[in-house]
Amino acid sequence: MFEKYQYVLENLREASHLRRISNFDSKDEKYIYINNRKLLNLSSNNYLALADNKNITQKFLEEIGEQYSFGSASARLLTGTLPVYSELEGLITSLYKSGGTLLFNSGYHANVGINSSLASKGDVIFSDKLNHASIIDGMRLSEGKFFRYPHNNMDALEKLLIRERKNYKDAIIVSESVFSMDGDIADLKKLVELKNKYNCILVLDEAHAFGVFGKNGLGVSEDMDILNEVDLLVGTFGKAIGSMGAFVTGKKVLIEYLVNKARSFIFSTALPPINIAFSKWIIENELPKTYQRRIKMLELGRKLGSESQIIPVIVGPNDKTVELCEILYQNGYFTLPIRPPTVPEGTSRLRLSLTTDINEKDMEKLCSIIGSINQTIKN
Ligand SMILES: Cc1ncc(COP(=O)(O)O)c(C=O)c1O
Repeated sequence: MFEKYQYVLENLREASHLRRISNFDSKDEKYIYINNRKLLNLSSNNYLALADNKNITQKFLEEIGEQYSFGSASARLLTGTLPVYSELEGLITSLYKSGGTLLFNSGYHANVGINSSLASKGDVIFSDKLNHASIIDGMRLSEGKFFRYPHNNMDALEKLLIRERKNYKDAIIVSESVFSMDGDIADLKKLVELKNKYNCILVLDEAHAFGVFGKNGLGVSEDMDILNEVDLLVGTFGKAIGSMGAFVTGKKVLIEYLVNKARSFIFSTALPPINIAFSKWIIENELPKTYQRRIKMLELGRKLGSESQIIPVIVGPNDKTVELCEILYQNGYFTLPIRPPTVPEGTSRLRLSLTTDINEKDMEKLCSIIGSINQTIKN
């Protein structure tokens, strides 16, 4: 009865595709400890070094944290909405000057809920080929049709729009802003132009940009001054903010629609109040202090050849990628191999993600190791 599963696992193992959960001895700010070895953690999304920060946790607990409980015991539409949830939604709405905001339990919940519910029968979604799995899963659950255009290829998207837009009623264009596995940035100005020209709704996932890009940390859309052109913008609290959960902010009618139609919102117990309070507290108290550190981190990312804090080192074959992770491990760096299906076949890579804690010294060593990695790949 279980042979099929064994067989699948064996095949994954042979192709160096098998995923395993790693255990760490402990984590401490920018380092991770494995077998008593201290490694610089280049594999987290803790971009602002706010997660695992004992001083910050302590300060939050002393200031307000003790008032909040660890369980909501209900979905938001039942008895799961305490004032702090609406306060956080209100805060996000005022920061973005949008029509409204809805919290989700995670970015995964948000993208599944949005992309499964926005397009009905007879509608269509146009999605960047490298969009996150949660966007793909949402589209798969949708009653609408979806097309995936080649990554960041605006000409291809326009050709698709010319060919297909007229065949459908409502249309949605969905993209990440900073792409999670490639660290590059979508051509947001062009996306806005196309959504206006072809009468589409624009949904932008700023999971890796919220808290990192923009004067107030609102994302690449803030940097590019197009916030009011994005119909729905997704941000997550589990990455730069060092907490957990997500929000979608944008047009009032769409937010109200999601409250009624996004099943991942409706049918799931709300996050604990203490967690919501922590996200709100971080956004109000810590995020505004991070501007200089964020700029420095992004400069470092650029120096390492990326447009963001995420630096892909594309290797290709799975086994070679695993091998290179080992080289970095031996040199005191913790990276994980990113393999299909997370990334397209033949593009296995190391995904180095920076945090504001990484200093000049780390940077120098990192640069020389990346240089030697590139050399290894060429050979
Ligand atoms: C672009 C993007 N969107 C959404 C998510 C999911 O967010 P969460 O981890 O909060 O579920 C991720 C997670 O890595 C992501 O990279």
